[in-house]
Amino acid sequence: MSLTRKKSLSVLLAQASDSEKGLKRTLGAGNLIALGIGAIIGAGLFVRTAAASAEAAGPAVTISFIVAAIGCAFAGLCYAEFASMIPIAGSAYAYSYVTMGELVAWIIGWALIMEYALGAATVSIAWSEYLNNLLGGRIPYEWCHSPFEAAYKASGDAINQLVSAVPDLAKSVKEGVLVLTTEQFEALPANLTSLVVVSHGMVNAPALIILLLLTLLLIRGTQESAIVNMIIVIIKVSIVLLFIVLGWQYINPANHEPYMIPAGTPGHEGVFKHGWGGVLGGAAIVFFAFIGFDAVSTAAQEAKNPKRDMPIGILGSLVVCTILYILFGHVLTGVANYTEFKTAGKEASVAYAISTYMLKYKWLATAVTFAILAGFSSVILVMLMGQSRIFYTMSNDGLIPKAFGELHPKYQTPYKANWILFVFVGLFAAFVPGSVAGDLTSFGTLFAFVLVSAGVWILRVKSPEIARPFKTPLVPIVPILGMVVCTGMIVALDKQTLTVALVWMLIGLLVYFGYSRKASKLNTGE
Ligand code: ALA
Repeated sequence: MSLTRKKSLSVLLAQASDSEKGLKRTLGAGNLIALGIGAIIGAGLFVRTAAASAEAAGPAVTISFIVAAIGCAFAGLCYAEFASMIPIAGSAYAYSYVTMGELVAWIIGWALIMEYALGAATVSIAWSEYLNNLLGGRIPYEWCHSPFEAAYKASGDAINQLVSAVPDLAKSVKEGVLVLTTEQFEALPANLTSLVVVSHGMVNAPALIILLLLTLLLIRGTQESAIVNMIIVIIKVSIVLLFIVLGWQYINPANHEPYMIPAGTPGHEGVFKHGWGGVLGGAAIVFFAFIGFDAVSTAAQEAKNPKRDMPIGILGSLVVCTILYILFGHVLTGVANYTEFKTAGKEASVAYAISTYMLKYKWLATAVTFAILAGFSSVILVMLMGQSRIFYTMSNDGLIPKAFGELHPKYQTPYKANWILFVFVGLFAAFVPGSVAGDLTSFGTLFAFVLVSAGVWILRVKSPEIARPFKTPLVPIVPILGMVVCTGMIVALDKQTLTVALVWMLIGLLVYFGYSRKASKLNTGE
């Protein structure tokens, strides 16, 4: 049995056109663009824009957005060729099955779990944090944090005693409450620890609830989910536009001078911390904001006219978001100075800029938090949908158990895959801290981008005769650039992320050789 055995393209195309048995084709071009925007605009824009400008790019975070968008566009063009040519659920997994064979397909399917399932878990944890913010911190700590997290607080007289013993703690007092980090708490002399109230996390209930609601919606129907997604997209895009339009009048041109962080600025010593290098450093930070356009391709089997609409959905959502991001970055760094995002405006940076400088529009700060919650919901929705479609396709190929591919008798959605996914993502979201999963999402995405770029080139050489409704321009230059840029970004991820990713991939190989290889329909001959 060869490690590179492939599924034939004709079998795949036959499966895709067999609409009797499979998923229903209900999505038009508008739905697909909305699906893309639904998955794209989220924490990346609202949280990472300020972080990228403060840490690396300064006001030139706008150029960082352009750089990251160009990187994504190479991969986006390759996705568009595949998604219009092989309009089947499963995205990068399905494309690599025909181009590079079963083992590579398995590896990419396993990596995509990192992108979509862990992505959904990460964003649901962030959703819970923002909900608690919006409710003024009323959710008890133990009900919105994992058991691995704890909070250390002191108030009243205890603050004076602690500060007189450790004067540095004075900086951590906000509105009459001293909030200590784990390190600060552990460094306290033993006789003082009893002054600190320690709360332990138990379960992240809001994260579980949002996952449950969205799972129920996905099971109810693809079109119903698309409608809810469309409503959310309208809300979040409107609020982004409002911020751009209203904030424009508050741009202080002095904040855009100089446009890039000058060399020699204290705290910006590294190559990727100032000037053009800083613009690149900023691009790596805001890359997360673009993740999601590829999720459009997972819905290829549910598109009414995939040949025409897949490229429109993938590239259209990427273009719309890039324009919004550049304008948003321009206004945000114009209203407040980028240096403020290191200090007072570090957390909830957009709300900070509004409530500090746009005094007439304070309500907009609450609207932004609302947009963030809405944005997070649609990101989770599309990620869960993408993952269940990948499971569906892998199950139809026999690589994972049949249950993942069973459709609901009435709603025609892969409901069992949705439920299994809810349990998996839910366990993660309820019991694991949010910081663990964020960069793994980037890894899974970038890895898929590299293989999809390679796949387009391989299939052009091997099967030039297949009809390609959309053609990636300048092959092999665009795929090569896609591979180079994305590999570069993978290498730039921190060591811990790469180690966890490697362990995850090794577990995947064990599952493949222990189960999937034998169960594969290519092996059983079904
Ligand atoms: N692009 C998505 C976000 O920014 C993942 O939340």
